[in-house]
Amino acid sequence: MMSLLFAIALGCVFITSQIVAKESELVSYSGFQTVIDNQNTNTNKNTSDTKAAYNLDWTSYHRLSNIYAFLTYLNTTYPRLVQLINIGSSYEKRPLYVIRISSSPSPGTRPAIWIDGGFHAREWISPAVATYIIQQLVEVPANAKLLSNVDWYIMPVVNPDGL
Ligand SMILES: *[C@@H]1O[C@H](CO)[C@@H](O)[C@H](O)[C@H]1NC(C)=O
Ligand SMILES: *[C@@H]1O[C@H](CO)[C@@H](O)[C@H](O)[C@H]1NC(C)=O
Repeated sequence: MMSLLFAIALGCVFITSQIVAKESELVSYSGFQTVIDNQNTNTNKNTSDTKAAYNLDWTSYHRLSNIYAFLTYLNTTYPRLVQLINIGSSYEKRPLYVIRISSSPSPGTRPAIWIDGGFHAREWISPAVATYIIQQLVEVPANAKLLSNVDWYIMPVVNPDGL
């Protein structure tokens, strides 16, 4: 619960940071690049040593295929809680997915919360925040009350082309 609230807070900070990104790009772009280069060393990390049923963790920067495999796994494993919705294709013809998380017998009839990530190519942390929130909502029973009054619609990678 605390870690989920932290993730949401981090997401809010991140959204705020997008607004100021243009200015910070001017002053410290080279500093950011070093950080990004260091993060990218983990891109191909084989995470099969984790006990999870999916090849995704929150200590690495993952490929789109890993993120989509995670969403597909949740869709298959938690059919009563999760619906994976294909909302079309990107400019480069990659599928676009929204995951709906709802404990309601008639989803779509309650207020909804929308979260998205991965709008811009360089913003590596935002798909991680969105997929972490998904994992916390779906797989952590202690967070069930966050599903009691609302449906969640989360799109972790809005721009899979990275353009
Ligand atoms: C990851 O490692 C496991 C076991 O060492 C192996 O079976 C699997 O093929 C590896 N996956 C990738 C993507 O390299
Ligand atoms: C999600 O799972 C259902 C079956 O439970 C399946 O019919 C549907 O095609 C899956 N959605 C996606 C986008 O894979």
